[in-house]
Amino acid sequence: MKKVYLETFGCQMNVSDSERVATRLAADGYEITPFESAADVVLLNTCSVREKAEHKLFTRVGQVNKAAADRGAKKPLLGVLGCVAQLEGETLFAKSQAIDFVLGTRAVGRVSQAIEKASGGENYFADLGERDEIYDWSVADAQRHSPYVAFVPIIEGCNKFCTYCIVPFSRGREKSLPASEIVRHILQLRSEGIKEVHLIGQNVNSYRPKTDDGLEGFRGATQFSRLLRVVAATGIERIKFTTSFPRDFHPDIVEAIGENESLCNWVHLPVQSGSNRILKLMRRGHTIENYLERIDIIKSSPRNISLTTDIIIGFPGETEEDFQATLALAEYCKFNSAYVFKYSPRPGTPAYAMPDDVSPILKTERFLRLDKLIRFHQQAVFRDYINKTVEVLAEKISEKHPNQISGHSTCQMVVNFEGAKDLLGKIVKVKILESKANTLYGKIC
Ligand code: 5AD
Ligand code: SF4
Repeated sequence: MKKVYLETFGCQMNVSDSERVATRLAADGYEITPFESAADVVLLNTCSVREKAEHKLFTRVGQVNKAAADRGAKKPLLGVLGCVAQLEGETLFAKSQAIDFVLGTRAVGRVSQAIEKASGGENYFADLGERDEIYDWSVADAQRHSPYVAFVPIIEGCNKFCTYCIVPFSRGREKSLPASEIVRHILQLRSEGIKEVHLIGQNVNSYRPKTDDGLEGFRGATQFSRLLRVVAATGIERIKFTTSFPRDFHPDIVEAIGENESLCNWVHLPVQSGSNRILKLMRRGHTIENYLERIDIIKSSPRNISLTTDIIIGFPGETEEDFQATLALAEYCKFNSAYVFKYSPRPGTPAYAMPDDVSPILKTERFLRLDKLIRFHQQAVFRDYINKTVEVLAEKISEKHPNQISGHSTCQMVVNFEGAKDLLGKIVKVKILESKANTLYGKIC
Protein backbone atom coordinates (compact mmCIF):
# COMPACT_ATOMS: atom_id res chain seq x y z
CA MET A 1 0.00 0.00 0.00
CA LYS A 2 1.36 3.42 -0.94
CA LYS A 3 1.95 5.78 1.95
CA VAL A 4 1.13 9.47 1.58
CA TYR A 5 2.45 12.33 3.68
CA LEU A 6 0.40 15.53 3.43
CA GLU A 7 1.58 18.94 4.61
CA THR A 8 -0.77 21.92 4.72
CA PHE A 9 0.02 25.63 4.69
CA GLY A 10 -2.28 28.62 4.98
CA CYS A 11 -5.93 29.17 5.70
CA GLN A 12 -8.84 27.03 6.84
CA MET A 13 -9.87 26.47 3.24
CA ASN A 14 -6.59 24.62 2.68
CA VAL A 15 -7.00 22.65 5.92
CA SER A 16 -10.48 21.71 4.77
CA ASP A 17 -9.23 20.72 1.29
CA SER A 18 -6.50 18.61 2.87
CA GLU A 19 -9.05 16.77 5.00
CA ARG A 20 -10.95 15.87 1.87
CA VAL A 21 -7.80 14.91 -0.04
CA ALA A 22 -6.76 12.57 2.79
CA THR A 23 -10.25 11.08 2.92
CA ARG A 24 -10.28 10.45 -0.81
CA LEU A 25 -6.83 8.87 -0.72
CA ALA A 26 -7.67 6.61 2.22
CA ALA A 27 -10.84 5.50 0.41
CA ASP A 28 -8.76 4.71 -2.68
CA GLY A 29 -6.45 2.44 -0.70
CA TYR A 30 -3.60 4.77 0.25
CA GLU A 31 -2.30 5.03 3.80
CA ILE A 32 -1.92 8.52 5.25
CA THR A 33 1.29 8.69 7.27
CA PRO A 34 2.40 11.41 9.70
CA PHE A 35 6.03 10.63 8.81
CA GLU A 36 7.59 12.19 5.76
CA SER A 37 10.41 9.67 5.89
CA ALA A 38 7.98 6.76 5.48
CA ALA A 39 6.15 8.26 2.52
CA ASP A 40 6.05 7.10 -1.10
CA VAL A 41 4.15 10.27 -1.98
CA VAL A 42 4.64 13.74 -0.46
CA LEU A 43 1.87 16.29 -0.99
CA LEU A 44 2.42 19.99 -0.27
CA ASN A 45 -0.83 21.98 -0.05
CA THR A 46 0.43 25.51 -0.59
CA CYS A 47 -0.61 29.06 0.33
CA SER A 48 0.16 32.14 -1.73
CA VAL A 49 -0.97 34.88 0.65
CA ARG A 50 2.19 35.02 2.72
CA GLU A 51 5.43 36.45 1.45
CA LYS A 52 7.82 34.44 -0.74
CA ALA A 53 5.33 31.60 -1.15
CA GLU A 54 7.03 30.13 -4.20
CA HIS A 55 10.45 30.42 -2.64
CA LYS A 56 9.17 28.52 0.42
CA LEU A 57 7.75 25.81 -1.79
CA PHE A 58 11.08 25.23 -3.53
CA THR A 59 12.87 25.19 -0.17
CA ARG A 60 10.48 22.46 1.03
CA VAL A 61 10.87 20.52 -2.22
CA GLY A 62 14.66 20.70 -1.79
CA GLN A 63 14.39 19.45 1.79
CA VAL A 64 12.19 16.51 0.81
CA ASN A 65 14.67 15.59 -1.90
CA LYS A 66 17.67 15.89 0.36
CA ALA A 67 16.06 13.93 3.21
CA ALA A 68 15.38 11.04 0.82
CA ALA A 69 18.93 11.17 -0.57
CA ASP A 70 20.38 11.24 2.98
CA ARG A 71 18.41 8.11 3.84
CA GLY A 72 19.60 6.51 0.63
CA ALA A 73 15.96 6.19 -0.39
CA LYS A 74 14.26 6.85 -3.68
CA LYS A 75 12.80 10.34 -3.98
CA PRO A 76 9.09 10.19 -3.11
CA LEU A 77 6.55 11.25 -5.72
CA LEU A 78 6.00 14.93 -5.10
CA GLY A 79 2.67 16.66 -5.68
CA VAL A 80 1.98 20.37 -5.27
CA LEU A 81 -1.59 21.33 -4.40
CA GLY A 82 -3.38 24.54 -3.47
CA CYS A 83 -2.88 28.19 -4.32
CA VAL A 84 0.72 28.19 -5.57
CA ALA A 85 -0.17 25.16 -7.71
CA GLN A 86 -3.11 27.08 -9.15
CA LEU A 87 -1.13 30.25 -9.85
CA GLU A 88 2.04 28.68 -11.22
CA GLY A 89 0.49 25.65 -12.90
CA GLU A 90 2.61 23.65 -15.27
CA THR A 91 5.49 26.13 -15.03
CA LEU A 92 6.40 24.40 -11.75
CA PHE A 93 7.62 21.34 -13.67
CA ALA A 94 10.22 23.44 -15.45
CA LYS A 95 11.27 25.14 -12.21
CA SER A 96 11.87 21.92 -10.30
CA GLN A 97 12.40 18.49 -11.77
CA ALA A 98 11.52 16.98 -8.40
CA ILE A 99 7.85 17.99 -8.80
CA ASP A 100 5.78 15.19 -10.33
CA PHE A 101 2.26 16.58 -10.38
CA VAL A 102 0.39 19.83 -9.80
CA LEU A 103 -3.25 20.18 -8.79
CA GLY A 104 -4.97 23.58 -8.70
CA THR A 105 -7.40 24.65 -6.01
CA ARG A 106 -10.53 23.13 -7.50
CA ALA A 107 -8.88 20.00 -8.84
CA VAL A 108 -7.85 18.40 -5.53
CA GLY A 109 -10.52 15.71 -5.99
CA ARG A 110 -8.30 14.23 -8.70
CA VAL A 111 -5.47 13.40 -6.37
CA SER A 112 -5.59 9.61 -6.79
CA GLN A 113 -5.67 9.95 -10.56
CA ALA A 114 -2.69 12.34 -10.37
CA ILE A 115 -0.64 9.89 -8.28
CA GLU A 116 -1.40 7.07 -10.69
CA LYS A 117 -0.44 9.10 -13.74
CA ALA A 118 2.67 10.47 -12.07
CA SER A 119 3.71 6.95 -11.03
CA GLY A 120 3.70 6.12 -14.73
CA GLY A 121 6.09 9.00 -15.37
CA GLU A 122 3.59 11.60 -16.57
CA ASN A 123 3.73 15.19 -15.29
CA TYR A 124 0.05 15.45 -14.40
CA PHE A 125 -1.60 18.85 -14.13
CA ALA A 126 -5.20 19.87 -13.52
CA ASP A 127 -6.41 23.35 -12.60
CA LEU A 128 -9.26 25.60 -11.51
CA GLY A 129 -11.45 25.15 -14.55
CA GLU A 130 -11.74 21.48 -13.86
CA ARG A 131 -13.75 21.28 -10.61
CA ASP A 132 -15.83 18.13 -10.80
CA GLU A 133 -19.48 19.10 -10.81
CA ILE A 134 -20.32 16.92 -7.86
CA TYR A 135 -18.83 18.41 -4.76
CA ASP A 136 -17.37 15.73 -2.56
CA TRP A 137 -18.12 16.62 1.04
CA SER A 138 -16.89 13.54 2.71
CA VAL A 139 -14.24 13.79 5.40
CA ALA A 140 -13.46 10.62 7.33
CA ASP A 141 -13.15 10.93 11.11
CA ALA A 142 -9.50 9.93 10.98
CA GLN A 143 -8.67 12.85 8.67
CA ARG A 144 -10.36 15.60 10.66
CA HIS A 145 -8.22 18.31 12.26
CA SER A 146 -10.39 17.90 15.36
CA PRO A 147 -12.78 15.11 16.39
CA TYR A 148 -15.39 17.66 17.50
CA VAL A 149 -15.03 20.58 15.09
CA ALA A 150 -15.71 20.45 11.35
CA PHE A 151 -15.05 22.98 8.62
CA VAL A 152 -17.90 23.36 6.16
CA PRO A 153 -17.09 25.36 3.03
CA ILE A 154 -20.19 27.32 1.95
CA ILE A 155 -18.63 29.59 -0.67
CA GLU A 156 -15.47 29.18 -2.68
CA GLY A 157 -13.39 31.85 -4.36
CA CYS A 158 -13.59 35.63 -4.31
CA ASN A 159 -14.94 38.32 -6.66
CA LYS A 160 -13.74 41.32 -4.70
CA PHE A 161 -10.35 41.91 -6.31
CA CYS A 162 -8.84 44.00 -3.52
CA THR A 163 -5.78 45.42 -5.27
CA TYR A 164 -3.19 43.71 -3.04
CA CYS A 165 -4.73 40.26 -2.98
CA ILE A 166 -3.96 37.14 -4.99
CA VAL A 167 -6.96 35.11 -3.79
CA PRO A 168 -9.35 35.94 -6.68
CA PHE A 169 -6.67 34.51 -8.98
CA SER A 170 -5.72 31.51 -6.86
CA ARG A 171 -9.24 30.52 -5.83
CA GLY A 172 -11.29 31.76 -8.78
CA ARG A 173 -14.72 33.36 -8.82
CA GLU A 174 -17.23 33.06 -5.99
CA LYS A 175 -19.31 29.94 -6.08
CA SER A 176 -21.89 29.32 -3.35
CA LEU A 177 -22.96 25.82 -2.48
CA PRO A 178 -26.69 25.07 -2.29
CA ALA A 179 -28.15 25.46 1.22
CA SER A 180 -29.84 22.06 0.94
CA GLU A 181 -26.44 20.36 0.54
CA ILE A 182 -24.94 22.35 3.41
CA VAL A 183 -27.82 21.33 5.69
CA ARG A 184 -27.61 17.68 4.67
CA HIS A 185 -23.91 17.73 5.41
CA ILE A 186 -24.33 19.39 8.82
CA LEU A 187 -27.08 16.95 9.85
CA GLN A 188 -24.68 14.14 8.96
CA LEU A 189 -21.89 15.75 11.00
CA ARG A 190 -24.24 16.15 13.94
CA SER A 191 -25.17 12.49 13.82
CA GLU A 192 -21.44 11.65 13.84
CA GLY A 193 -20.95 13.58 17.11
CA ILE A 194 -19.50 16.82 15.76
CA LYS A 195 -20.22 19.64 18.20
CA GLU A 196 -19.15 22.71 16.28
CA VAL A 197 -19.20 23.63 12.60
CA HIS A 198 -17.26 26.49 11.05
CA LEU A 199 -18.93 27.77 7.92
CA ILE A 200 -15.94 28.85 5.89
CA GLY A 201 -15.25 30.90 2.79
CA GLN A 202 -13.13 33.87 1.72
CA ASN A 203 -16.26 35.97 2.22
CA VAL A 204 -18.97 33.88 3.85
CA ASN A 205 -21.45 36.72 4.00
CA SER A 206 -21.30 37.15 0.23
CA TYR A 207 -23.07 33.76 0.12
CA ARG A 208 -25.37 33.91 -2.89
CA PRO A 209 -26.52 30.53 -4.20
CA LYS A 210 -28.29 30.54 -7.56
CA THR A 211 -31.53 29.27 -6.06
CA ASP A 212 -33.22 29.35 -2.67
CA ASP A 213 -33.09 25.57 -2.56
CA GLY A 214 -32.97 24.72 1.15
CA LEU A 215 -33.59 28.30 2.29
CA GLU A 216 -37.34 28.16 1.71
CA GLY A 217 -39.36 29.16 4.73
CA PHE A 218 -36.45 30.89 6.46
CA ARG A 219 -36.58 34.66 6.68
CA GLY A 220 -33.65 37.06 6.61
CA ALA A 221 -32.41 40.15 4.81
CA THR A 222 -29.73 38.26 2.85
CA GLN A 223 -29.23 34.70 1.68
CA PHE A 224 -26.39 34.42 4.20
CA SER A 225 -28.47 35.47 7.21
CA ARG A 226 -31.17 33.07 6.03
CA LEU A 227 -28.54 30.33 5.84
CA LEU A 228 -27.47 31.09 9.42
CA ARG A 229 -31.07 30.55 10.58
CA VAL A 230 -31.33 27.35 8.52
CA VAL A 231 -28.10 25.98 10.00
CA ALA A 232 -29.24 26.94 13.53
CA ALA A 233 -32.39 24.89 12.88
CA THR A 234 -30.30 21.74 12.28
CA GLY A 235 -29.74 21.58 16.05
CA ILE A 236 -25.95 21.40 15.78
CA GLU A 237 -24.61 22.72 19.08
CA ARG A 238 -22.28 25.50 17.93
CA ILE A 239 -21.94 27.41 14.66
CA LYS A 240 -19.08 29.76 13.82
CA PHE A 241 -18.46 31.47 10.49
CA THR A 242 -15.43 33.13 8.93
CA THR A 243 -14.37 35.34 7.11
CA SER A 244 -16.90 38.18 6.78
CA PHE A 245 -16.54 40.98 4.24
CA PRO A 246 -17.40 44.45 5.64
CA ARG A 247 -19.36 45.75 2.65
CA ASP A 248 -21.69 42.75 2.70
CA PHE A 249 -22.04 42.61 6.49
CA HIS A 250 -25.77 43.14 6.98
CA PRO A 251 -27.08 43.98 10.50
CA ASP A 252 -29.42 41.02 10.11
CA ILE A 253 -26.41 38.76 10.83
CA VAL A 254 -26.24 40.30 14.30
CA GLU A 255 -30.02 39.85 14.66
CA ALA A 256 -29.68 36.18 13.76
CA ILE A 257 -26.92 35.75 16.37
CA GLY A 258 -29.20 37.44 18.91
CA GLU A 259 -32.01 34.98 18.17
CA ASN A 260 -30.02 31.73 18.21
CA GLU A 261 -27.77 30.70 21.06
CA SER A 262 -26.03 28.15 18.82
CA LEU A 263 -24.77 30.94 16.52
CA CYS A 264 -21.55 31.85 18.29
CA ASN A 265 -20.75 35.36 19.47
CA TRP A 266 -17.68 35.97 17.33
CA VAL A 267 -17.23 38.01 14.15
CA HIS A 268 -14.00 38.16 12.11
CA LEU A 269 -14.28 41.34 10.04
CA PRO A 270 -11.03 42.37 8.31
CA VAL A 271 -10.72 46.14 8.00
CA GLN A 272 -7.21 46.26 6.39
CA SER A 273 -6.67 50.00 7.02
CA GLY A 274 -8.06 52.86 9.06
CA SER A 275 -7.59 55.40 6.26
CA ASN A 276 -10.28 56.00 3.65
CA ARG A 277 -7.62 57.07 1.17
CA ILE A 278 -5.80 53.74 1.53
CA LEU A 279 -9.06 51.73 1.53
CA LYS A 280 -9.85 53.33 -1.81
CA LEU A 281 -6.44 52.42 -3.21
CA MET A 282 -7.01 48.90 -1.91
CA ARG A 283 -10.42 48.95 -3.67
CA ARG A 284 -12.08 47.49 -0.59
CA GLY A 285 -15.55 48.82 -1.41
CA HIS A 286 -16.11 50.17 2.10
CA THR A 287 -15.21 53.27 4.07
CA ILE A 288 -14.19 53.63 7.69
CA GLU A 289 -17.58 55.17 8.43
CA ASN A 290 -19.41 52.08 7.00
CA TYR A 291 -17.07 49.81 8.93
CA LEU A 292 -17.58 51.59 12.24
CA GLU A 293 -21.35 51.55 11.76
CA ARG A 294 -21.15 47.77 11.57
CA ILE A 295 -18.85 47.61 14.59
CA ASP A 296 -21.33 49.68 16.61
CA ILE A 297 -24.14 47.29 15.66
CA ILE A 298 -22.00 44.24 16.55
CA LYS A 299 -20.97 45.77 19.88
CA SER A 300 -24.54 46.70 20.79
CA SER A 301 -25.64 43.05 20.66
CA PRO A 302 -26.59 41.63 24.06
CA ARG A 303 -24.58 38.51 23.09
CA ASN A 304 -21.25 40.25 23.88
CA ILE A 305 -19.86 39.45 20.43
CA SER A 306 -16.08 39.27 20.21
CA LEU A 307 -14.43 40.98 17.30
CA THR A 308 -11.27 40.08 15.36
CA THR A 309 -9.74 41.61 12.25
CA ASP A 310 -6.91 41.66 9.71
CA ILE A 311 -4.87 44.81 9.05
CA ILE A 312 -2.20 45.51 6.43
CA ILE A 313 0.38 48.17 7.22
CA GLY A 314 2.73 49.78 4.71
CA PHE A 315 0.44 49.61 1.66
CA PRO A 316 1.87 51.71 -1.24
CA GLY A 317 1.61 55.40 -0.43
CA GLU A 318 0.70 54.89 3.25
CA THR A 319 1.71 58.08 5.10
CA GLU A 320 2.18 58.62 8.82
CA GLU A 321 -1.24 60.29 8.77
CA ASP A 322 -2.86 57.21 7.16
CA PHE A 323 -1.15 55.01 9.71
CA GLN A 324 -2.35 57.24 12.56
CA ALA A 325 -5.88 56.68 11.27
CA THR A 326 -5.30 52.92 11.55
CA LEU A 327 -4.11 53.38 15.14
CA ALA A 328 -7.23 55.45 15.90
CA LEU A 329 -9.41 52.72 14.43
CA ALA A 330 -7.74 50.04 16.56
CA GLU A 331 -8.19 52.29 19.60
CA TYR A 332 -11.91 52.59 18.87
CA CYS A 333 -12.64 48.97 17.98
CA LYS A 334 -10.75 47.26 20.83
CA PHE A 335 -10.35 44.01 18.94
CA ASN A 336 -10.16 40.68 20.77
CA SER A 337 -7.34 39.99 18.38
CA ALA A 338 -5.99 41.36 15.12
CA TYR A 339 -3.68 39.79 12.57
CA VAL A 340 -1.32 42.49 11.37
CA PHE A 341 0.45 41.95 8.03
CA LYS A 342 3.24 43.97 6.47
CA TYR A 343 2.24 44.75 2.91
CA SER A 344 4.12 42.68 0.37
CA PRO A 345 3.60 42.99 -3.37
CA ARG A 346 2.11 39.99 -5.15
CA PRO A 347 2.92 39.59 -8.84
CA GLY A 348 -0.30 39.54 -10.84
CA THR A 349 -2.25 41.85 -8.51
CA PRO A 350 -3.10 45.49 -9.44
CA ALA A 351 -1.10 46.84 -6.49
CA TYR A 352 2.01 45.16 -7.89
CA ALA A 353 2.23 48.09 -10.34
CA MET A 354 2.22 50.62 -7.49
CA PRO A 355 5.58 51.55 -5.96
CA ASP A 356 6.18 49.58 -2.75
CA ASP A 357 7.39 52.82 -1.21
CA VAL A 358 7.11 52.27 2.54
CA SER A 359 10.62 51.17 3.51
CA PRO A 360 11.13 47.85 5.31
CA ILE A 361 12.33 49.74 8.40
CA LEU A 362 9.22 51.90 8.46
CA LYS A 363 7.02 48.85 7.91
CA THR A 364 8.63 47.15 10.90
CA GLU A 365 8.28 50.29 12.99
CA ARG A 366 4.56 50.67 12.14
CA PHE A 367 3.99 46.96 12.65
CA LEU A 368 5.44 47.17 16.17
CA ARG A 369 3.53 50.34 17.08
CA LEU A 370 0.22 48.86 15.94
CA ASP A 371 0.93 45.51 17.53
CA LYS A 372 1.67 47.19 20.86
CA LEU A 373 -1.58 49.13 20.80
CA ILE A 374 -3.59 46.08 19.82
CA ARG A 375 -2.02 44.02 22.60
CA PHE A 376 -2.72 46.76 25.11
CA HIS A 377 -6.43 46.78 24.27
CA GLN A 378 -6.49 43.03 23.94
CA GLN A 379 -5.28 42.66 27.52
CA ALA A 380 -8.06 44.98 28.70
CA VAL A 381 -10.63 43.01 26.67
CA PHE A 382 -9.26 39.76 28.15
CA ARG A 383 -9.40 41.12 31.72
CA ASP A 384 -13.08 41.91 31.16
CA TYR A 385 -13.72 38.17 30.98
CA ILE A 386 -12.43 37.66 34.53
CA ASN A 387 -15.25 36.51 36.86
CA LYS A 388 -17.48 35.92 33.85
CA THR A 389 -18.64 32.48 32.79
CA VAL A 390 -18.05 31.29 29.23
CA GLU A 391 -19.04 28.09 27.47
CA VAL A 392 -16.05 26.08 26.30
CA LEU A 393 -15.82 23.06 24.03
CA ALA A 394 -13.27 20.76 25.69
CA GLU A 395 -11.07 19.98 22.68
CA LYS A 396 -7.77 18.55 23.90
CA ILE A 397 -5.45 17.93 26.81
CA SER A 398 -3.22 20.98 27.24
CA GLU A 399 0.27 20.35 25.84
CA LYS A 400 2.02 22.18 28.68
CA HIS A 401 -0.15 21.00 31.56
CA PRO A 402 -1.46 17.45 31.29
CA ASN A 403 -3.97 18.06 34.09
CA GLN A 404 -5.56 20.84 32.05
CA ILE A 405 -8.01 20.82 29.20
CA SER A 406 -7.85 23.35 26.41
CA GLY A 407 -10.68 24.48 24.21
CA HIS A 408 -12.37 27.44 22.58
CA SER A 409 -15.18 29.51 24.00
CA THR A 410 -18.19 30.49 21.89
CA CYS A 411 -16.39 33.85 21.46
CA GLN A 412 -13.35 32.01 20.02
CA MET A 413 -11.03 32.60 22.96
CA VAL A 414 -8.61 29.85 23.95
CA VAL A 415 -9.60 28.76 27.47
CA ASN A 416 -7.66 26.35 29.72
CA PHE A 417 -9.08 24.77 32.85
CA GLU A 418 -8.38 21.83 35.15
CA GLY A 419 -10.05 18.64 34.06
CA ALA A 420 -9.59 15.07 32.92
CA LYS A 421 -9.96 13.48 29.53
CA ASP A 422 -13.51 12.22 30.11
CA LEU A 423 -14.55 15.84 29.51
CA LEU A 424 -13.22 15.87 25.95
CA GLY A 425 -15.93 16.63 23.42
CA LYS A 426 -18.22 18.15 26.04
CA ILE A 427 -19.32 21.74 26.25
CA VAL A 428 -18.73 23.02 29.77
CA LYS A 429 -19.28 26.25 31.64
CA VAL A 430 -16.00 27.78 32.83
CA LYS A 431 -15.62 30.72 35.18
CA ILE A 432 -12.64 32.81 34.09
CA LEU A 433 -10.13 33.56 36.85
CA GLU A 434 -7.05 34.79 35.03
CA SER A 435 -5.92 36.07 31.64
CA LYS A 436 -2.50 35.65 30.05
CA ALA A 437 -1.04 36.66 26.66
CA ASN A 438 -3.31 34.61 24.42
CA THR A 439 -5.21 32.41 26.81
CA LEU A 440 -7.86 32.64 29.51
CA TYR A 441 -7.66 30.38 32.56
CA GLY A 442 -10.64 29.32 34.63
CA LYS A 443 -12.43 26.58 36.50
CA ILE A 444 -15.45 24.51 35.68
CA CYS A 445 -18.56 25.72 37.43
N1 5AD B 1 0.37 41.75 1.67
C1 5AD B 1 0.12 41.69 3.00
N2 5AD B 1 -0.96 41.12 3.53
C2 5AD B 1 -1.85 40.56 2.70
N3 5AD B 1 -3.02 39.91 2.93
C3 5AD B 1 -3.52 39.51 1.74
N4 5AD B 1 -2.70 39.89 0.74
C4 5AD B 1 -1.66 40.55 1.30
C5 5AD B 1 -0.50 41.19 0.79
N5 5AD B 1 -0.25 41.25 -0.52
C6 5AD B 1 -3.60 39.75 4.26
C7 5AD B 1 -4.95 40.48 4.38
C8 5AD B 1 -5.95 39.35 4.41
C9 5AD B 1 -5.13 38.27 5.09
C10 5AD B 1 -5.64 36.88 4.93
O1 5AD B 1 -3.86 38.39 4.48
O2 5AD B 1 -4.99 41.18 5.60
O3 5AD B 1 -7.14 39.67 5.12
FE1 SF4 C 1 -8.55 38.99 -1.01
FE2 SF4 C 1 -10.21 41.11 -0.79
FE3 SF4 C 1 -11.14 38.71 -1.64
FE4 SF4 C 1 -10.42 39.03 0.94
S1 SF4 C 1 -12.08 40.11 -0.12
S2 SF4 C 1 -9.89 37.27 -0.41
S3 SF4 C 1 -8.69 40.42 0.75
S4 SF4 C 1 -9.67 40.01 -2.69
